Amino acid sequence: MNSTPMRQFALQGAAVILVLSLAWPYFGWTAEALPWLQTSLAIGLVALVFATLTRQPWWWRAIHAGFMPLIWFTQSLAIEPAWFLVAFVLLLLVYRGALSGQVPLYLSNKETVAALADLLAERGNSRFLDLGAGLGSTAVPLADALPESQFTGYENAPLTWLVGRFFALGRPNIRWRWDDLWQANLGEYDVVYAFLSPAPMAKLWAKVEAEMSPGSLFISNSFPVPGAAPSHIIEVDCTPARPLYCYER
Ligand SMILES: C[S@@+](CC[C@H](N)C(=O)[O-])C[C@H]1O[C@@H](n2cnc3c(N)ncnc32)[C@H](O)[C@@H]1O
Repeated sequence: MNSTPMRQFALQGAAVILVLSLAWPYFGWTAEALPWLQTSLAIGLVALVFATLTRQPWWWRAIHAGFMPLIWFTQSLAIEPAWFLVAFVLLLLVYRGALSGQVPLYLSNKETVAALADLLAERGNSRFLDLGAGLGSTAVPLADALPESQFTGYENAPLTWLVGRFFALGRPNIRWRWDDLWQANLGEYDVVYAFLSPAPMAKLWAKVEAEMSPGSLFISNSFPVPGAAPSHIIEVDCTPARPLYCYER
């Protein structure tokens, strides 16, 4: 069963419509006020049933069950509406990539960065590109460890980019770009690193094949390229497992 955001929206919407189309006429008929707490709990329950029947992953089921009850709870706090706008804008500034390409922000860990540093040290001075560079948690420590190599980060979420720009300050071997990763010319780099999500991997691989030069290396953290065998896999010693899928060009 496909679990796209649109499908989740449809599931939750169906639960809302079903419960309200029964509750509104009933409470209208009995001339009582609609009990919003019970109604939101009923919507959560029906949405959970729909999500279970359509075999959504467990975390989508949890979201469906909790969504309307949480809305009721939040509404009962009587928070000034402007704060919701502020929170929305902040989230958009950080999680833009999740909206447009199903790639949210999460960071490479220290163990992964150490494994990348070893790999780059073996290869000699390199031009390294981090596609979707986040806060710089990969590029910045690598730039410090390997001052002779050049590091470029493409990041399109404005606030994330800004924080990364701050961390990159004072490091002449980092180029920090506020740009869409699909605009990068991969042919300009010896090593291209991506820690994205399963969603863009097939399209990204087509770009890698079209642009990366022979002898260069494409590395995907955690998400293998569908239908392509990696040249080797680095099993990084960390929990949860974060294998580095390496594709020699
Ligand atoms: C999982 S994080 C990885 C961050 C960093 N590379 C690291 O390893 O710590 C993915 C990042 O890609 C960014 N991103 C998603 N889509 C993008 C796009 N089309 N262009 C540039 N950055 C994008 C997200 O905003 C997010 O910061």
